[in-house]
This record gives sequence, structure tokens and C-alpha cells, in this order.
Amino acid sequence: MTTTTTTTPTDRDRTGERIFNFSAGPATLPEEVLRQAQSDIFNIAGTGIGILEHSHRGSLFTRIIEEAEAACRRVAGISDDYHVLFLQGGATLQFAMVPMNFLPAGKVADYLDTGSWTSKAIKEARLLGSLNIAFDGGKRGYDHIPAAHELSLSRDAAYVYFCSNNTIVGTEYSEPPATDAPLVCDASSDILSRPIDVARYALVFAGAQKNLGPAGCTLVIVSKDFLRGARDQLPSMLDYRQHAAQGSRLNTAPVFGIYFMGEVFKWIERQGGLEVMARRNREKARIIYDVIDSALGVGTTFYRGMARSDSRSMMNLTFRTPSDDLDEKFVTQARQLGMEGLKGHRSVGGMRASIYNAFPRAGCEALAALMKDFAKKNS
Ligand SMILES: Cc1ncc(COP(=O)(O)O)c(C=O)c1O
Repeated sequence: MTTTTTTTPTDRDRTGERIFNFSAGPATLPEEVLRQAQSDIFNIAGTGIGILEHSHRGSLFTRIIEEAEAACRRVAGISDDYHVLFLQGGATLQFAMVPMNFLPAGKVADYLDTGSWTSKAIKEARLLGSLNIAFDGGKRGYDHIPAAHELSLSRDAAYVYFCSNNTIVGTEYSEPPATDAPLVCDASSDILSRPIDVARYALVFAGAQKNLGPAGCTLVIVSKDFLRGARDQLPSMLDYRQHAAQGSRLNTAPVFGIYFMGEVFKWIERQGGLEVMARRNREKARIIYDVIDSALGVGTTFYRGMARSDSRSMMNLTFRTPSDDLDEKFVTQARQLGMEGLKGHRSVGGMRASIYNAFPRAGCEALAALMKDFAKKNS
């Protein structure tokens, strides 16, 4: 506790009061779940043992992983035709596991390159098989999501790979790309932010650290049918079939991540499910996009969105002021007002407000108020 009567944002931080965290990931998590976890780390379900200390093969953790899977299936509407896996290695390991398992010699996989994360996935997949880059968004600074006519899909692709939300530039698909080939999606930064029609996908993966929980655990939803065609003779930890056969407990499972994700799935259910998440996320994003779009005078706007307006993300909102110096000043002022994590990714600069499911509407309102005030004073 400080002894001063006036509380600056920095003091708030020091006294442990929470501020608005716009970080792209690890990111803001639901307060209710954090508080429950605080208690469960010490002693969970009256066992006298904390969640971090229970055996991953014991009865308590068995119940936790079963409940987490069941809650995930309820929230996302996942049928028994799919496995739900909790793996390690982050989303980045999926960049390699997908082609290792599903891109046999003699076949081609189509990749839609819409940002840094798809570029990284392409780099990994190229080490393992033949690719067709069905869309190259890098030519236009990754500013948009491709329309159907911009795609050059192969005739008989092993799968079509895309990233539903591009965390760095801030673009998001409103619909998955139309294709008859099996669809593989990196949904790391918008998973469970809106309803998902899982039946349209062969495989969806997401690193947990944005919408689902702590870093270190990756959710994989994979069609049993698609998995039947996977390659044999892979090292165990890189083989989806072995993970599925062992119920995500091929080795010591990431117990805390799985526990936490389970609590987040239940939190989403208590909020009313994915329709409610989607509505809230749209409303939160609108508060900020409205300021970006508002004119200061005839034909003038102070802020410039980085994503084309028809491709804007509801999760990562990117914008710039008229200069790099003003961008820096904006980030500093935001910090002084208790808003952290707004500096854009180093590869694109500007500002990025990441407002995943658990990020409060009040934080969007605070940011919008600062944006309006800042534009007035600096234009
Ligand atoms: C869309 C997307 N894919 C993949 C990754 C990489 O995730 P990880 O650090 O879990 O490997 C990120 C990280 O921010 C991401 O935003």
C-alpha cells in the first residue's frame, strides 16, 4: 500500500490493483477464473493438494480433463466425430505437426498467407512437403482477407490452411474460405470469440494464451475421419493419433493449462455462450472503430486503421496517428492512465488494442475517451 492520497496509474500497478491490459497474448483472463485459480493452486476441491501438485494420472485430474473436454464440446458444439486434444509446444508446433501428419509425399497443401503467423506456418511446412501459396497477402502489407476470386486453390489439395484472425495486422475472416478440401485453421487469436461451425473444419488449433488460458497449452480439435488418413511412423509427441489414443496424456500433461481452460469454458457458458461473446466482442470493437473512423473535419481523420475496413478484426484493433512520434506519445499517455500493452507489434508499429473475450468493455470506453481527447489536442 502507498501512503499518498492521490493514486497515479503507476501506483495502482504497485498496489496490485488491476489495470486495463490490451496485450495480444498472454492477455487478460476472466477475473472470476483467476480468483478461483488463486485458491485452487493452494488446495483444490478440499483435497489438501493444489492443482499444480496433483498427479496428471490421479482421479482428481482425470475428472478435470474430462470436464474440460466436455465443457469445450458444449461451448463450441463439437460432436463425437472430433477429438478434442490439449497439447504442448504452442501454436507454433502445430505449424509443423499439421504437414507432418497430413501432407504425404506426392500431394500439395494450399496455404493462404494473410500475415506473419501464416508466413511462419508456411516456412515450417515447406520443410516437410509441397505447398501451393493460394493467396499471397504480403504484396499488399497483409491489409485484408482475400475474397474467393483472389484464391488460386489446387484441384486436389491435401488440405487448405488459413488463419482465422491475424493477430499482428488485425484482420479476421468473417467466414472460413469456401473449399471442398479439408480445412485447417489456426484460430489462436479468435477461438471461442464467436460461434464456430466445427463441422466445416478438418482441424482447428489454438494456442491458449489469448482467449482460453495461460500459455503452454494448445487446443486441437481434429476430425476423426481426417485423422484416419494421417501418416504413420511419426515420433510419438508429433503424432496426433497417439495423443488422441492416450486422451492427451501421452506424457505429463500441462495440468494447469488444462485446468484453467476448463474453467474458462465454463465461464463462457455462464456468460451465455458464444453468441453472447460475439455480441459483446462486436460492441466492444465498435466503440474503438467508431473513433478511428470519425472525421475531425471535412475529409479528415486523425487515426488510420491498418486493416482494410471490410477485413477488420474484433480481437486485435490496429491503428496509427499521423506520425511515429505521436504514436509513441499516445502509448505513453495511455500507460499513465492505466492502459498497458497498446504498442503495436514491432513489425508494423502504430497501436494495437487486443480485446479478447475477457477484456472489459470499460477498457474499450477508456481507450476511446483517450483517443478522442488525444486527437483534439494533437491535430
Ligand atoms: C495467430 C497466431 N498463431 C500462432 C501464434 C504462435 O503461438 P505460440 O506462441 O503459442 O506458438 C500466435 C501468437 O501470437 C498467433 O497470434
